[in-house]
Amino acid sequence: MSKYLIPLTFALVLSASALELPNVLGSPPAKSKEDWIKIQRPKTLELFKNHVYGRAPLGKPTTLSFKIIEEDPKAMDGAATLRIIQISYSGPGGESGFKLITFIPNKATKPAPGYLLICNRGPETIDPTRKKKDDFWPVESIVARGYVAATFPNSELSTDKDLNFNNGAHKAFDNYDGGRPGDAWATIAAWAWGASRALDYFETDPAIDASNFAVVGHSRGGKTALWAGATDERFALTISNNSGCTGAALARRKTGERVARINKSFPHWFCGNYKNFDGKENELPIDQHQLVALMAPRAVYVASASKDDWADPEGEFLAAAYAGAVYELFGLKGLETMEMPVADQPIQLGHIGYHLRTGKHDLSQYDWEQYLNFGDKHLKN
Ligand code: GCU
Repeated sequence: MSKYLIPLTFALVLSASALELPNVLGSPPAKSKEDWIKIQRPKTLELFKNHVYGRAPLGKPTTLSFKIIEEDPKAMDGAATLRIIQISYSGPGGESGFKLITFIPNKATKPAPGYLLICNRGPETIDPTRKKKDDFWPVESIVARGYVAATFPNSELSTDKDLNFNNGAHKAFDNYDGGRPGDAWATIAAWAWGASRALDYFETDPAIDASNFAVVGHSRGGKTALWAGATDERFALTISNNSGCTGAALARRKTGERVARINKSFPHWFCGNYKNFDGKENELPIDQHQLVALMAPRAVYVASASKDDWADPEGEFLAAAYAGAVYELFGLKGLETMEMPVADQPIQLGHIGYHLRTGKHDLSQYDWEQYLNFGDKHLKN
């Protein structure tokens, strides 16, 4: 008998026990949404802070300020208003900040919902003059669908090489007497913190509907988007594109990139405590389906690519599928299947979306089209 003919609940038990995943509902398992909201969600989030992503020293700084440094009401042949905002903050270690590029559709009903891309590629990818165009951030398509297209370069929050945490948000706020604690935030958490500060700006712009905003990221940016959505419940939709290891992929599958390898290649991405799990995925107190579940009852989308074995597409799919049990507590549907779909057949029926795209590790026009379709269902436009 094919495993896909096994009734859903039985199949869930079968593959969960084969992997011995921690219960997505927590321990003891939440029996109601109240249980989840009051007890198991905070506990789960805390475990991820302690052992994986680290703890940001602060939320919104009292010193946070916004300055529009460029504005063009007729950008993109009049289709959008471009605003580039310098977001600044300061802490014990001095002042820092980052640039937020925002295209607001001129035709949309205001305030408009939108998509915030955490950009982990070079400046040419997010060219505000639109002379250079890149499918990684297809502003024209996003705006044509009535959404704000916003992005910021992650490196302005923390460079991707800062092993000593000595620039950007880390330099401004890290103030650890007696050494860096094992649960101190690291680079991915600083990037996610930046996404929240961008949302702080959206809340001040009358043309933007901050309560209907998606956070999107690819690969290391996808890991970051998931952490941003988990830590900041103001994001209405979280989108993980090919996020792989310590993104959506289940660690216990030990397939593709593994914890020891990611900690060795990118020792600055996660907190010090995460290194205790090098080669010991089964000892992690959580697994990544629980990260996806932290978005409930808000919408979440996980996407994989068929040639992206390093990111373990099946592990990404399963995390999205198992997260569904938490959505059920809210009376909402998740993926409603344990059968991995064939390539290019998106599943978008419930509050969890998923697709496997044909092709390599990338964020493409095809991926964005699915995110915009899913946004049409979950972001008020
Ligand atoms: C490396 C890394 C991945 C990461 C990817 C990326 O391949 O091993 O974990 O997702 O870079 O960010 O492009």
